[in-house]
Amino acid sequence: MMSQKVTVGRISFTFQDNRLMARCLMPSPKVFLAWSLSLSSLIYHILLIQTFHVQQYLKPGSQRNVSILLWHWPFGHSYSLSGDKCLEMDGISNCSLTDDRSTYLTADVVVFHHHELSNSASALPLHLPRPTAQRWVWLSLEPPINNANVKQFNGVFNWTMSYRHDADIPIPYGKTLPGAGIQGFQSFSDRSCFASWVVSKYKPNQTRTDVYQSLKKYIPIQVYGAWNKKPLPDDKLLPTISKCLFYLSFENSEAKDYISEKMWRNAFQAGSVPVVLGPRRATYEALAPPHSFIHVADFKSVSELATYLYHVAADKQAYEEYFKWHQTHRIKTYTDWRERLCQICLKYPSLPSKKVYQDLEGWVNS
Ligand SMILES: *[C@@H]1O[C@H](CO)[C@@H](O)[C@H](O)[C@H]1NC(C)=O
Ligand SMILES: *[C@@H]1O[C@H](CO)[C@@H](O)[C@H](O)[C@H]1NC(C)=O
Ligand SMILES: *[C@@H]1O[C@H](CO)[C@@H](O)[C@H](O)[C@H]1NC(C)=O
Ligand SMILES: *[C@@H]1O[C@H](CO)[C@@H](O)[C@H](O)[C@H]1NC(C)=O
Repeated sequence: MMSQKVTVGRISFTFQDNRLMARCLMPSPKVFLAWSLSLSSLIYHILLIQTFHVQQYLKPGSQRNVSILLWHWPFGHSYSLSGDKCLEMDGISNCSLTDDRSTYLTADVVVFHHHELSNSASALPLHLPRPTAQRWVWLSLEPPINNANVKQFNGVFNWTMSYRHDADIPIPYGKTLPGAGIQGFQSFSDRSCFASWVVSKYKPNQTRTDVYQSLKKYIPIQVYGAWNKKPLPDDKLLPTISKCLFYLSFENSEAKDYISEKMWRNAFQAGSVPVVLGPRRATYEALAPPHSFIHVADFKSVSELATYLYHVAADKQAYEEYFKWHQTHRIKTYTDWRERLCQICLKYPSLPSKKVYQDLEGWVNS
């Protein structure tokens, strides 16, 4: 019978009959007390460090940079990220934006724009280890109907970024702020056009198409955009619309909270009264300035809508009522992706620390 005994620290190994056995030696009470004390001190320090880190993350006005990595640019158009863009553009400090994928492992937040994921122009970095504290953000400013193939991303993302008010990072196309804004729009009597509509993707199956087809039988509508082969370059868009009394801010689909630049920029910035078709009136009332729009759904029929438009067009005072809000409110529009990304830093301290969109598809379509 072969037997060999080796003692390493507190453990004694015995090799006997080709079997290895290990036995833990009991320490003396004095040594045991010392161990317990150093162990609890260790745990205490780990907790302290963790709390410190959490505070660094969560404390408002933290001096730590939140680093945001944009995995790919929406629709392939990139913009410069040199310098401190969030500070320059929005006065938001401690927020760093990058599109340099080599910073992936140290990024606090990685943002993925849905369009390029869904058409495979880009892909998630699933082959890379995912840092435990890193958050992945699903970004889309499109209504549900344009967010194809979303189901495959269930259980992947931690936060959402969309025009919806219930997104983790809400980035509406525009918002209403208190305080007077710019005036000096085209005067009522100088308006040479009744109504205009800019449409790039005309689809026979949309509500807005039905309303347009019906409305044009009653009122003159100037149509611009790719569909009509009358595209307006950026510098011609607002000047053209500003000559019209009304602008058709017709959304491509009627989805919760979905009010696009068709109202915020095309109508409000041009100073044309928006005739809106999109979410219900209550949504517009919550977001748009008071008495600033005419909602299609307020009328029993398109002919009644047309009658109302003629009434307002014939009555200078009634028309100018739609501009009164400029004395008490102004609007801010968001058109730059960089400004939108900077919003993540503002929200960062208050966002849920642990979250997964297990049913992203359900959320998107809700
Ligand atoms: C955070 O912003 C403040 C104010 O702009 C600045 O003084 C500080 O240096 C910034 N911290 C970092 C880590 O950039
Ligand atoms: C924080 O981010 C800004 C913007 O990217 C950058 O200019 C600055 O150097 C960063 N500060 C630190 C300490 O990393
Ligand atoms: C119109 O919509 C219906 C129902 O949503 C659909 O079945 C049909 O294919 C659509 N037609 C066109 C031309 O897109
Ligand atoms: C983020 O989502 C991933 C994927 O579901 C998950 O494993 C991770 O725990 C989440 N992280 C946080 C901080 O919520």
